[in-house]
Amino acid sequence: MNRKQLTIGLFGFGCIGKGLYEVLQKTPALKASIKSICVKTKNKQRSLSNQYFTFEKNDILQDDTINTIVELIDDADAAFEIVKTALQKGKAVVTANKKMIAEHFEELLHLQKQYNVPLLYEAACCASIPIIRNLEEYYDNDLLESIEGIVNGSTNYILTKTVEKNISFSLALKEAQQKGFAETNPLLDVGGFDAKYKLQILLAHAFGVITQPQNIFNLGINNLYDFELNYAKEKGYKIKLVAYASKNEEGKIISFVLPKFVTSKDKLFSVDDVFNGVKIQSYFCDNQFFVGKGAGAYPTSSAVLSDISALTYDYRYEYKKLNTQHSLANEEDIFLKIFFCVFPYQLILSLNHFLKILKNTISMKTMAL
Ligand code: HSE
Repeated sequence: MNRKQLTIGLFGFGCIGKGLYEVLQKTPALKASIKSICVKTKNKQRSLSNQYFTFEKNDILQDDTINTIVELIDDADAAFEIVKTALQKGKAVVTANKKMIAEHFEELLHLQKQYNVPLLYEAACCASIPIIRNLEEYYDNDLLESIEGIVNGSTNYILTKTVEKNISFSLALKEAQQKGFAETNPLLDVGGFDAKYKLQILLAHAFGVITQPQNIFNLGINNLYDFELNYAKEKGYKIKLVAYASKNEEGKIISFVLPKFVTSKDKLFSVDDVFNGVKIQSYFCDNQFFVGKGAGAYPTSSAVLSDISALTYDYRYEYKKLNTQHSLANEEDIFLKIFFCVFPYQLILSLNHFLKILKNTISMKTMAL
């Protein structure tokens, strides 16, 4: 097969952007090279010569010799403007921005169709695990019943280190930030929003369901205290932030993100540190389990690299489930049973906790007990 030569305009030179540059240097056989890099901050010492950099997005977007945009910035609104203009200009796009994709999923679908250009985003879900491509291609005809997983590396790192090393939540979060795992606004990680955006993207590729972030209930790990962590330890459980989606009896999709007690029988039990793990239950394949690093420069760059490589042979998502499984819809009213273990000395703390969760839950139009 004759592969296309890609000339890349890169947006962002942070942890992942730098990682991608290094990864591309190590894969010279790939027919892709970075022509220009657009960054925000002017007076910053960078590892590459100044000739690579521009501070003006149109230097890249209006350059007709650039046929591929790789968008790796963390501002979702600015990212959307870049991606939208690039698609309108007929440039193929690779992005890792899950918030941007989740918030504009439908519009991005239309843009791909209207301008007949591919938009790939494997790095947006579970970094090094090729989950989108598998859902899209391998499970094309199988009947998926559920998908459940740890899809956020930072929270898994925090939950692992607070138990393993007995360090505080804030120190573990600081480590996750220093290692380049956490979002610039870490509330997106610890509040379960990042996991929700990823789940929303997975819903489209697994079940052909398009929904909005506000329709998926998320509860993060920022409401956990020593009480829950110690309880899990005492019982031999682990707490994991789990994203879940399954078909209910009416054929609708139930989806949410919640911290969950996981027993040693569960495959997610041994998914620790920055690793992500995704369990898939399907009618024909039965159970399958994917595991890999879910955040960080190289694991994320590996997914971006794979998308770049896929573009050299004109790969694009066909959104097969969207076109075939039209009867599936997201169930917005879900009924969750939440159990509280209350000891006298924990009463005030737990009640406070319960009220917070209830408030959050009601505001998400979800009933909780
Ligand atoms: N903050 C994200 C995480 C980065 O920790 O999973 C990778 O998407």
